[in-house]
Amino acid sequence: MKTSIHLENKITSKPSRYGLKYHIKTFGCQMNEHDSEKIAGMFQKDGMIKSNEIDNSDVLFINTCTIRENADDKLYGTLGQLKKWKDENPNRKLLVGGCAAQKDKYLVRERAPWVDVVLGTHNTNDIINLLNQSEDWGPVTEILEETTNIESETSPVRESSINAFVTIQIGCNNSCTFCIVPSVRGVEISRRPSDIVNEIERLSHEGVKEITLLGQNVNSYGRDLMINNKRRPYFTELLYKIHDIEGIERIRFTSPHPKDFKEETLIAVSELPKVVNQIHIPLQSGSNKILSAMHRGYNQKRFIEKIDMIKSIITDASISTDIIVGFPGESHIDFEETMKVVNYAEFDLIYMFKFSPRPGTVASDYQDKFVKKDIIDDRFMSLKNRQTEISEFRYARFVGSTQKMLIEKPSKKDERILTGRIEGGHIVNLESNKYGIGDLVNVKIVDSTPFFLKATA
Ligand code: 5AD
Ligand code: SF4
Repeated sequence: MKTSIHLENKITSKPSRYGLKYHIKTFGCQMNEHDSEKIAGMFQKDGMIKSNEIDNSDVLFINTCTIRENADDKLYGTLGQLKKWKDENPNRKLLVGGCAAQKDKYLVRERAPWVDVVLGTHNTNDIINLLNQSEDWGPVTEILEETTNIESETSPVRESSINAFVTIQIGCNNSCTFCIVPSVRGVEISRRPSDIVNEIERLSHEGVKEITLLGQNVNSYGRDLMINNKRRPYFTELLYKIHDIEGIERIRFTSPHPKDFKEETLIAVSELPKVVNQIHIPLQSGSNKILSAMHRGYNQKRFIEKIDMIKSIITDASISTDIIVGFPGESHIDFEETMKVVNYAEFDLIYMFKFSPRPGTVASDYQDKFVKKDIIDDRFMSLKNRQTEISEFRYARFVGSTQKMLIEKPSKKDERILTGRIEGGHIVNLESNKYGIGDLVNVKIVDSTPFFLKATA
């Protein structure tokens, strides 16, 4: 049974931490990255200033992930290392939030009693309150079972001034048997369209050029809202509304679910020039037996039909996917079925994962069907090798063409090189001193690898 842990004392006293330095360490997905940006906004409203180093900070927030086992291991490893940081100066404050905290609740404190605040995914908006309480009464743990207020009063402090994440929906109503997300992020809640549009208009005024709409299942966006007296998905209409916002030049979204992907959305993508021709559509497995055991709600044939539909409606679509290798019961033949889809679809990019049993998920109980580690490793390598070949020619198709690139930042390795992305999401390294950050420019693609493109202006 799920438990809710509520605090008794809600009175707070500290007005501000003016001048103190904060640092945020984020694990996991784009949703977590964006949550960290929201928390940075709350810290700054409280008077704190950002520090790029842990050692230099007074307040440290660890935003955790639990999607696979190694994410949990990383958390407890990091907390172990931070005992010294806390011992050096007991006035420092260590806060832990995000998905692993939501899952482990009191275990975080049991394993790392030096943590000052443990909070979950549903009460990030309450972080300053909890920090105040820990100063007044000692360490606190507050984990709630649902989000009651999706809107934050504070604006996020974004890592980039060019591209911005915008949450359109939180949680997930699906029940994929391998996935821990529904239990740590809760049910699907959509933000009101007007709140989303207002936020993007504000971002446009601040100079943001590209936005990425975030949700676990974006094409079911809106089905929990009553819009024009109807409860139904509103994602396609949302794309049209956002497209009208002046100043925004590119719109990305992630992730749609194959079972809910509609033709009307693809038509919108093809009709709306600012919506990119990049579609991320998670396959997970190509085997009908495994897809059914995963509760994905589609089979190989239906997935391939979606791929055909994407390719027929969107000119030169760049398609990416997620694949899990070694789901319990996956035989050699099942894996070959996945390879069949990979060869047919010719994805530009695959995010590949080895199956990791997550506590509380249905698939974690299929122990008698677990695939041996060395078999998973072999399959993972053959998928990786095959995809490298496919990515090689998918990236090479751009060589000799002119593409629109949004310049994001100087390369970490070489300041003279600017990095950014073309419409399909492919990373480009541009050798040029003509342009600056935030410029959307035509560049000539001169070379490619399976992982990035090279361009000249
Ligand atoms: N094991 C391995 N990969 C997983 N993913 C989600 N849960 C698991 C798990 N238990 C992958 C899926 C999902 C991506 C975000 O992470 O492919 O689409
Ligand atoms: Fe997890 Fe499936 Fe929901 Fe994606 S759609 S978050 S994989 S349960």
